[in-house]
Amino acid sequence: MIALGCDHGGFSLMVEIKKYLEETGREYRDFGTFSAESCDYPTYAEAACRAVVSGECEKAILVCGTGIGMSMAANKIRGIRAAVCSDCFSTEMTRRHNDANAMCLGERVMGPGLALKLVEIFLTTEFDGGRHARRVAMVNALEGDPREK
Ligand code: RB5
Repeated sequence: MIALGCDHGGFSLMVEIKKYLEETGREYRDFGTFSAESCDYPTYAEAACRAVVSGECEKAILVCGTGIGMSMAANKIRGIRAAVCSDCFSTEMTRRHNDANAMCLGERVMGPGLALKLVEIFLTTEFDGGRHARRVAMVNALEGDPREK
């Protein structure tokens, strides 16, 4: 199950992402926003990311104008490792090395063709583990995660 969150700046791209997830047989839970009316991205970052932290969803896809506001908000939530994804290489590496559990896309930064390619990479690339697991544990410890002490 994939958690989705966007603001008005990411609303059109999120429509494309939902279509793509349906076509490729993936389940999602949509935490809004549900129209192109102006709204505040932290609300939707929080709702989608809480579903990841609770275990209800495996990963989150967040979209705003740039992806940056969403990533700032998402990374304030304990247990979330959110990455702004704008290219194929970084998107693959943030899964393999950082075990990112939220991707943030900017509708005003890229077209839907690239965005959907990045979604596919994010959803299908596994974490490498090994030495990267130690570093991810160190990142988690920075937010006071008691499991990592
Ligand atoms: C909304 O205008 C815009 O600021 C928002 O979508 C996002 O890009 C913030 O980082």
